[in-house]
Amino acid sequence: MALPGMRLSGPVPTETAAVPGSFLYHDDVLHCDGAPVPDLAARYGTPLYIYSEASILDRVRSLDQAFEPLDRLLAYSVKANGNLSILRTLARAGCGADIVSGGELYRALRAGVPADRIVFSGVGKSRAELEQALAAEILCFNVESEGELRELADVGREAGRAAPVALRINPDIESPTPHAYTRTGHRATKFGIPSEEAFRLYGLAAELEGIVPIGIDAHIGSQIVDPEPYRLSLLHLLDLVERLRQDGLALELLDLGGGFGVSYDEALDPPPESFAERIVPHLATSGLRLILEPGRYLVGHAGMLVTRVLYVKAMGAKTFIITDAGMTDLLRPSHYSSIHRVDPVRKELDREVRRVDIVGPICETGDFLALDRDLPLPEPGDLLGIHTAGAYGFTMASTYNARPRAAEVLVAGDKARLIRRRETYDDLIRGEEELLLE
Ligand SMILES: Cc1ncc(COP(=O)(O)O)c(C=O)c1O
Repeated sequence: MALPGMRLSGPVPTETAAVPGSFLYHDDVLHCDGAPVPDLAARYGTPLYIYSEASILDRVRSLDQAFEPLDRLLAYSVKANGNLSILRTLARAGCGADIVSGGELYRALRAGVPADRIVFSGVGKSRAELEQALAAEILCFNVESEGELRELADVGREAGRAAPVALRINPDIESPTPHAYTRTGHRATKFGIPSEEAFRLYGLAAELEGIVPIGIDAHIGSQIVDPEPYRLSLLHLLDLVERLRQDGLALELLDLGGGFGVSYDEALDPPPESFAERIVPHLATSGLRLILEPGRYLVGHAGMLVTRVLYVKAMGAKTFIITDAGMTDLLRPSHYSSIHRVDPVRKELDREVRRVDIVGPICETGDFLALDRDLPLPEPGDLLGIHTAGAYGFTMASTYNARPRAAEVLVAGDKARLIRRRETYDDLIRGEEELLLE
């Protein structure tokens, strides 16, 4: 059902254009690079996440090259997609990691991300997580409050090792993201430290025994396609850096966060140069090392969720396509009103185009993958490909309604490799079974 207020404005994609990317038709069959999607679905079942290694590497290369004049680190934001093989692919391409939990640190280290390329973000790090990250000797803690600063100093003092710290500043910038939930750079959110507080807290950080201030940080939101808010955020941080320098505190790192946006159509994405040209000139002679924390930009387009049509159901004027994937597999459409292009995996040219809602099997009215979409009417058994599902897809999946989570596959050229097996019913009851009431 099209819920009031749940749609974004703007065009709704109806068919595949000749766009760049890894998920294209060859002979009317959707492929991931050299691998036919129907073959992967037959081999690994559905719902299935398919990722393209080439797409990920291409994105890393182009973003990195755009910032080439600078000393820089792409600290991939693990929350976007934390699969170990994806992390390893990114680590081998030279990326570090931006983590927000002990679990993400564990994943990043297990995948081979060097600790000295890991930054720890997040508004609510527990003491145990601070201890864990300090012991791992990560590059920097992005601290978000005085309470956290004091806690970390205590942890550092106890461990006999000073924790490297950047303060995350809230620059009070309204970033024009498509959904309020992805804006983090303005005062009304819980994120960061107000600039007025920054001086006092840097002073405190310089005095406290268990920490050493080395950087400054901001993250103004996600899905930002306009480079201007980044420029504003950067100027805000550079002004603070300069005033701190005059005060005798020289910082080494400037972390501008992540949030570079992607569109439902890769051809419409802003090129990385559009961001770089607003950032590079201001940092070129600063002596600061730039850290970026891209998540979605690196892996969003690299992933497709493949789902099988279970039923086609007409209800009055509406037609529902009921698929075996739902909000438990891909939460973004219902949580963020995100628009994902949907393509039939096989083009059946004789099909009538019908306006449909693509919905999942979950017992929630908010369980949908796409609303009011014009699609060649699929039949039960057909496969659909949900594009741009590589970021915040599997990572936000749940087992609600006792549905085991999907399998994940990584394609390199024409070779596919299972990188997460489909969960089983045994996985669902792990941790409960042995504790079952007698
Ligand atoms: C601190 C921080 N850095 C980076 C990111 C990554 O954002 P994106 O995937 O939009 O690049 C996020 C996303 O929530 C974040 O909170």
